[in-house]
Amino acid sequence: MKIGIIGLGFVGLSYAVVFASKGYNVVGVDIDVKKVSMISNRVSPFYEDGMKELLETTIGKTFTATTNYDSLRDADLVFVTVNAPTREDGSQDLLQLESAIRELAWVFCNAAHRPIIVIKTTVLPGTTRRMAKLFSELSGKKVPEEMGFAFSPEFLREGCAIRDVLNPSRVIIGALDEDTAESLTKFFREFYIKVGSNPPILVMSPEEAELVKYASNAFLAMRISFANSIADVCEEIPGCDVGRVLEAVGLDPRIGKEYLKPGLGYGGSCLPKDLKALIRFTEDLRLSPILFKAVQRINEDRIEKVIKILERELGDLRGKKVAVLGLAFKPGTDDIRDSQALKLVLKLLNKGARVYVHDPMALTNAKRILGNRVEYLKSLDKVLEYADIAIIATGWDHYKQIPLLVERKDIRTKLIIDSRRILCLDELSRMQNKGLKVIVLGTNLGK
Ligand code: UGA
Repeated sequence: MKIGIIGLGFVGLSYAVVFASKGYNVVGVDIDVKKVSMISNRVSPFYEDGMKELLETTIGKTFTATTNYDSLRDADLVFVTVNAPTREDGSQDLLQLESAIRELAWVFCNAAHRPIIVIKTTVLPGTTRRMAKLFSELSGKKVPEEMGFAFSPEFLREGCAIRDVLNPSRVIIGALDEDTAESLTKFFREFYIKVGSNPPILVMSPEEAELVKYASNAFLAMRISFANSIADVCEEIPGCDVGRVLEAVGLDPRIGKEYLKPGLGYGGSCLPKDLKALIRFTEDLRLSPILFKAVQRINEDRIEKVIKILERELGDLRGKKVAVLGLAFKPGTDDIRDSQALKLVLKLLNKGARVYVHDPMALTNAKRILGNRVEYLKSLDKVLEYADIAIIATGWDHYKQIPLLVERKDIRTKLIIDSRRILCLDELSRMQNKGLKVIVLGTNLGK
């Protein structure tokens, strides 16, 4: 079986190397010459746990990366994993997806076999059916008789993408016809048998499958905003810590403990963009997206909340030396897209603060956005030596060493705001004894 993958971002490349490592013949197509050349030279264009090893064992053997769509001519199955950004007004930019469909129409117009195209790019309900129509018009091929079309949403998370590909919570198949649904169910069953996992496989309409993805990401965002709202309440009640409250709440099996970690809010290339698109989509249906809007608003307010704490503690921020610890949108990645930490940095710069930044992985990416507006620090020692205030903005484990550094050294920093709640509460009083004030979001202990 030959598999094509269009778009070698973290979703496409993760699938490509995993399929290739299980013996499938995989061709990955991307229009970015530089990216294709890096991958062909065994270098992953981004950091992803386990990617390097799989790339090294598959590229040039069962996996080829190319810019040439022609290589897909004899593919049986093509996954489309290109980007579909959400525009500022919430509408979806489908240029990359449409362009991939145009290319595929040209590639398959004379195909003697019946390939299946599976869209994995997150798209709003109705899009897959429209893309199938566009393909049919351009290629002259009848869908579904001569060509299969389906939507299969993707649930993998950056940082554990390979693990999520191997062991997904569920596989959703939204096929236009029964034959395609059956072929894909068989394909995924066989693949997961090879892998040794057994996820539930659900077949439904393409529109339902498209909505599953938005509903899932909106639900995750809602849980995080819920946790942040409870964190705010805890701060007003002496003796209250949101960690203890939500741990107890999450033990109810109807609720569960995942995605209830309060902090600076959610970021990344998915949750914010999908919620924005869902809000617009709901409005276009003449419904009122009050719940989705509240989730979004609560998230935006997290940055403002930290700024308010700083202004309360320090007054005017102009000229104040503030360090932001962590820039990636979450730990374990160098991705800074829609990162709350980065938004905080920009806000601080607007307020006239002198900003230092630190991140174990994301400094190179951050430099492209922040340029020389901030100072980049490579060690935590230096942060505590230069900055008056440090804000933990991404929950890297690396920052758990702060109490130890404080213990060992004379430091300049007088205030730490732990917006990701990674410092151990037991250590706070020891740090405070050294003259350092520590504010942990969601906690009102010892006030
Ligand atoms: C998210 C979804 O979790 C995936 O299922 C989905 O496939 C993916 O989007 C996508 O649509 O492609 P990802 O963007 O990698 O995955 O990030 P998450 O691990 O879900 O984290 C999102 C944000 O929420 C991060 O900024 C994280 O720090 C924050 N978060 C997460 C919290 O603030 N609290 C939590 O309890 C969990």
